[in-house]
Amino acid sequence: MIRPVLSAPDPRLRLKSLPVTTIDAEIKTLIRDMFDTMYAFQGCGLAAPQVGIHKRVVVMDLDSGEDNLPKSPKAFINPEILKVSTEVVRFQDGCLSVPGDIYEYVERPQEVMFRYMDEHGKSHDVHAQGLLAKCIHHETDHLNGVLFIDYLSRIKREKVSNRLKKYHSSLR
Ligand code: NI
Repeated sequence: MIRPVLSAPDPRLRLKSLPVTTIDAEIKTLIRDMFDTMYAFQGCGLAAPQVGIHKRVVVMDLDSGEDNLPKSPKAFINPEILKVSTEVVRFQDGCLSVPGDIYEYVERPQEVMFRYMDEHGKSHDVHAQGLLAKCIHHETDHLNGVLFIDYLSRIKREKVSNRLKKYHSSLR
């Protein structure tokens, strides 16, 4: 089931999400719905607070590409960043919660060590670089109430918030 995606400046995007304690039917449904929603809106990652659920769950598919079909769907429960490299990469970031064709350059660590639990409750440690490192960093930020626009200069942030206002009023 596709769930509505919250968009900035919705204050619910700023709340900190709580860890998942049991992987029950509710969490499994949430994960399935998050995949449906991510593919429907052509994203490559989605965090539970973006659909208004404040639990530490992230879904991702870095291979879905232009046709937007499921290729490498991955769910990360309680993802936790253990270590980041001092080297950063600058790239154009975007977010389903920052709609209206808004993409801006941000810096994120080039390498990220993180731990997560899969849908079977098994814990994994991952050394990520490239796209995975950027995405897990972006999605884990969501679980802490952080959006990519927070990394921009004040002037850029103001521009983005004006564009968001325009975008939202164009929908009314
Ligand atoms: Ni996002």
